[in-house]
Amino acid sequence: MADYRQIYAEDGSLEICWEDVFRAREKLQLPYMGNKKKFLWAFPPRLKAHGIEFDTILDAFCGSGAVTYMFKALGARVLANDFLTHAHLATIAFVENQTTRLSDEDKEFLLEHQNPGASKFIRRGYLAEDFRKEAGFSEEGLQFGFLTFKEALQFDNFRANVDDRFDIEVGQVRARSNLLPELQKFIDGNIPPEDHKRIKWATALANFNQMFLKFFSPGRDNYGGRAGARIDYRLKHAKSKGNWRYNADYSTEVNLRFAMDDWWKTLVRAQLPGRCRVSCMDIIALLQATSGFDCVYFDPPYGGAKKSTSDYAEHYRFCEAYVHGCEIEELPHIRTGAARFGSDQATYEKNFELMLESSVDIPIWLFSYNDRSWSGIEAIAEKIKRFKPRVDIDHLADHRYRCSKGANASDFRKEFLIVAR
Ligand SMILES: C[S@@+](CC[C@H](N)C(=O)[O-])C[C@H]1O[C@@H](n2cnc3c(N)ncnc32)[C@H](O)[C@@H]1O
Repeated sequence: MADYRQIYAEDGSLEICWEDVFRAREKLQLPYMGNKKKFLWAFPPRLKAHGIEFDTILDAFCGSGAVTYMFKALGARVLANDFLTHAHLATIAFVENQTTRLSDEDKEFLLEHQNPGASKFIRRGYLAEDFRKEAGFSEEGLQFGFLTFKEALQFDNFRANVDDRFDIEVGQVRARSNLLPELQKFIDGNIPPEDHKRIKWATALANFNQMFLKFFSPGRDNYGGRAGARIDYRLKHAKSKGNWRYNADYSTEVNLRFAMDDWWKTLVRAQLPGRCRVSCMDIIALLQATSGFDCVYFDPPYGGAKKSTSDYAEHYRFCEAYVHGCEIEELPHIRTGAARFGSDQATYEKNFELMLESSVDIPIWLFSYNDRSWSGIEAIAEKIKRFKPRVDIDHLADHRYRCSKGANASDFRKEFLIVAR
């Protein structure tokens, strides 16, 4: 574990190299609901103030991997987990990845190879109305019509190229990520060699996903709180106007070649002192199958009145479907995982308790919640006290969530860090 005194100067100011580390992470857009990238800087001094030290930590709900990145920057061995495949891929690409980059040949193939084996999954489910009839697609299987024909064609082609280029497919990648003996070895300090094929596959799709969230989801007017904007809204949105990435003949149309050329990224240059491994499991199953962490960080969906901000599978339905090549209804593991913290308050509470019961062997617990979570912060702390004698509530930051409407003061939420041991 890095010594916090090396990270913070005696006067408490950030030393320049750590500022760079956090800035690199901030520059990487990774738009993700509930991500903590804007206040990563707030964690280390609070951890130091509480005297928290660890060599191994579980980032139980890693989402975009922002906090995972911070733990790795602090020198820890961090196992990051998220039940959504597309989220776990981002963390493989941008945090687990130590040295792997896509070559120019890889990029050329992914964008230019015309794949005769490409499925029509995206054209069938996501073509905008104007293009459906013309292209001969019926309403059957339609999810959201937000793509032009050319975009949908490029999406289908790119997806097939990713599997072909790296000769691996989604089931194998998930199985590899969730290999329990390997995960346990990692926790015990035995770091496996980098699996370039799995990392390249993840990097291609993670970069595509970032591009999708940036260019296809401008603003908030998406499908009932889901990522991916209506085509007419995208056309009108200020962010899309005059954007050189769009073809002139249909002003909303994204040219994948230009969009991706601007995108390909990794963070391998950061060379952080810690190590990371990513798994893709329901958190309770993972906690019950592994042991030996010094600390666990829980940043679950916050619950609360707005269901749409807790149901990540529904919100990122397109991203998940794109990676799997099928709708989330066809994925039983999504149903199990999403039901835990994405439904009513009673179910949330039951699963919260089960999660704590499954973590009793881990000495230190850290939690993120804000002042509008499924229960009041004091009440959440009381529940944790049933398992750990010492529970402290700390104020981490005031944060304005992008998904909140309007610009009034109530958009600012108090972010708390709960420390239990
Ligand atoms: C608040 S977000 C985490 C944000 C993350 N710390 C970041 O900075 O980006 C909560 C995450 O929990 C994941 N999640 C929800 N239910 C889960 C479950 N049963 N098991 C594992 N992950 C789950 C969601 O997919 C989502 O990515």
